[in-house]
Amino acid sequence: MNRTFIIETKNTLYCFDADGNGVLRHLYHGKKAKKEDFEVIGERDYNSPSGGLDDIFEEYSVFGSTRYRNTAFKCEYADKCRDSVFKFKSSEQTENRLDVTLLDEAYNIELVLTYEYSLESDIITRYVTVKNKSDGDLILDKIASAEISLPGENAYDITNTIGSWGSEFQLTKEKLKNGTLTFQSVKGITGHTNSPFVAMSQNATEDFGDVYFASLGYGGNFKIEVQRDFRGRTRCIAGISDFDFRYVVKAGEEFTTPKIYFGYYNGFGAMSNDMSRFAVKNILPKSFAEKELPVLYNSWEATTFKVSTEGQKTLAKTAAELGCELFVMDDGWFGARNDDNAGLGDWQVNPEKFPNGIDELIGYVNELGMDFGLWFEPEMVNPDSDLFRAHPDWTYHYDTRVPCLSRNQLVLNLTRDDVKEFVFSSMDEMLKNHNIRYIKWDMNRPFSEIGASNLENQRELWVRHTMAVYEVADRLKAKYPYLQLEACASGGGRGDFGALNHFDMVWTSDNTDPLDRLDIQRGYSFAYPIKTMRAWVTDWNRDSRPVPLAFRFNVSMQGSLSIGSDLTKLTEEEKNEYKKYIALYKEIRHTVQFGDMYRLKNIANDDFYAANYVNENKTEAVVFICASANSLHNKLSKSVKVKGLDENYNYEIDFGKEKSVFSGSFLMNRGLDVNLNGALDSKIWKIKKV
Ligand code: GLA
Repeated sequence: MNRTFIIETKNTLYCFDADGNGVLRHLYHGKKAKKEDFEVIGERDYNSPSGGLDDIFEEYSVFGSTRYRNTAFKCEYADKCRDSVFKFKSSEQTENRLDVTLLDEAYNIELVLTYEYSLESDIITRYVTVKNKSDGDLILDKIASAEISLPGENAYDITNTIGSWGSEFQLTKEKLKNGTLTFQSVKGITGHTNSPFVAMSQNATEDFGDVYFASLGYGGNFKIEVQRDFRGRTRCIAGISDFDFRYVVKAGEEFTTPKIYFGYYNGFGAMSNDMSRFAVKNILPKSFAEKELPVLYNSWEATTFKVSTEGQKTLAKTAAELGCELFVMDDGWFGARNDDNAGLGDWQVNPEKFPNGIDELIGYVNELGMDFGLWFEPEMVNPDSDLFRAHPDWTYHYDTRVPCLSRNQLVLNLTRDDVKEFVFSSMDEMLKNHNIRYIKWDMNRPFSEIGASNLENQRELWVRHTMAVYEVADRLKAKYPYLQLEACASGGGRGDFGALNHFDMVWTSDNTDPLDRLDIQRGYSFAYPIKTMRAWVTDWNRDSRPVPLAFRFNVSMQGSLSIGSDLTKLTEEEKNEYKKYIALYKEIRHTVQFGDMYRLKNIANDDFYAANYVNENKTEAVVFICASANSLHNKLSKSVKVKGLDENYNYEIDFGKEKSVFSGSFLMNRGLDVNLNGALDSKIWKIKKV
C-alpha cells in the first residue's frame, strides 16, 4: 500500500508517495488539483521504475543501485560500502511541517526529509538531516538540501546570474536541452560568479508562465545542478557543494543541511514578490525585518582610507543636514590601515587619525541626530599586522606552501575556537565601549591554501567557516539587539539567503554607476527582498560620464537609499536637491521597502527602464522611469502600464509638477504615456488612492 503525502500552500500542491518498495516517488508540484486523485495516480504505474531507479522522479535520490546520474546524497559507511539503500520508515505531520524518515536498515542510518510550509505563501522550505545511529563513522561525500523534479518532458529555461566584482547579479537564461547545467561557488563564499538560486521556467514572462524557483539559505560553497535525462525529464539538485567536501558524522551524531526555499509560480513577478514577502517574515533577522531601514551615509567613496575625526565630522554635518539617519565610517579607522597593505586584524582605533579616541566622532554624529556605524573585515588578516605577527598560525595554510595573497590579505581559520572567539571579541570590544549601532561586515578575498590542521577532517573547513560566521553574527545580534548588520564581500559577494538569515541587508555592488546599477539591481530584485538592497548615490563617473542627480537618486531610491558622495564638493543647489530627494524617499520608503515590486521595462529589451512598487493594501504606489544613455531612443513618448493596483480604486498621480486622477483599471490596462526628454532623463510618479 502506498503512502501519499500532500503539501498544500497558498496556491499550490506538492505531492509524493512512498511506493510498495519504500521508494519516495515525486508525483506533483503545481497549481492546486483534487487531492484524492493523487492516491489514484500513485497506485497506477505513473512514475514507477521500469528499467531501474534511473527512470523515475525520486523525492531525494541517493548514490547507488541503478541510478546512473548525479544524486542528491552520497556517503561511505564504516565498512567502506558506498551503495545506499534508504527506504521509507515513518512520517510525522504537524500543522505546518512534515518530516519523513528514511532508513538504511543495514547500517541503521536515517535520513529525515523536512518540509515546512503554510497557506500564507507558496514557499516550501526543505532540508535534510542525516542521523548516524550506527556505531561507526559515516562519511558524507554529498548531501544536498533538496532534489526538485519538474513536470513534463519539454526543456526548461534555466535562470541564474553571472558576474564579477562590479557586475554582480547579471541575469542569464538558457534552455537546457541536454546534459547538466551547474551553477556554483568553490571560493568559500557565495562570490560574484553565480547565485545560489535558480528559476526553471517554460514560456514564462514577468506575468505568466510556469516558473519553478529555488533559493538556498547558504553562503559558502554551493552547487546547483540542473540535469535533463534521455526521457526529457528535468531534475534539479541543490545544496552545499560536493567540491572538496567531506563531512564525518560520528556514531550517535547528526548533520543537518542548510535550508532551501522553493515554490511554483505563474510568472517571474509573482515569484519575486512571494519570495520577498516570505523572506521578510521568515528569513531576515527578526530585529529589523519589519522595520524600515534608515537612509545611511557611507564615507568610503569620499575618503577611502583617509579617515580622521575632522574629515568625518565635516561629512557627518552635511549628511545630517541632508536628512541621513545613520553615518557609517568605512575602512581605514583602525590599526596601521592607510591602504590595503596593512592593519586587518588590529581592530583598535588608530590614535593618529583619532587622537581623542573615536567617541569624539560618535558623540558628534549622535548629537546631529544620526546613529553611528563602522566597517569591519573580521575574517581577515594582513601579514603586516600585529595580529599576524602574534599568531602566524591563525590563517588557513599549509606549511609547505607559500600563501597566495589576494588584496594583500589572508583568511583567518574560523574553524578554530580561539580564532572564532577573537573575531567575536574584536567587534564586541568596540560595541561594548562605544555607541555603535551598525556594522558593515566585509569579506574581500576567496580562500586558498585551505589547510586547517586543527580539524580531524580538514575538508569540513568550508562548512565550518560559513557556520562560524553566522554564529558570530548571531551572537553579536543577541548581545546588541539594536545592532544592524550589513553583509558585504567586495560588493555583492555575500548576497544570498544564508547571509540574509543573519544580516539585515546586503551591499549590492561596489559599482555605483547608476546605469550599471539598473541591471545589477534588477538581478538582485529577482530573488531577494528590495529592502535588503543597499543602494548609494555617489559621484561615480562624475567626470568621465556624468549622470544627472535626479537619475542617480531615481536608481538608488529603488532600494534602501544610501548616500556615498563626497559631500564636501556639493554646491548649495546640489545640497537642496539631495534634501528634496531624501525627503521624498522617506515618504515612499515604506512602499519601496515592503511593497510588491514590478519590473516593467528594461533598457536591453525596451530601450528604457521602468519599475513600480505597490504597498500591501494597494493604496500607495510609486513608479520609477529611466531613459537610456542613448538619446536616439528617447525622443518619442513611451507607454507605461502600472501593475499591482486595485482596478476599482481611483488614484491621484503626482508627476512632480502636476497631478491627475485616474482609475486603477485605466492605469493598469491603458497605462500612461511618458515623454522622456533625451538621454538619462528620469521620472518618479507618486500614486495615492483618493
Ligand atoms: C570592499 C567593499 C567596499 C569598501 C572597501 C574598503 O571593496 O566592497 O565597499 O568597504 O572594501 O576597503
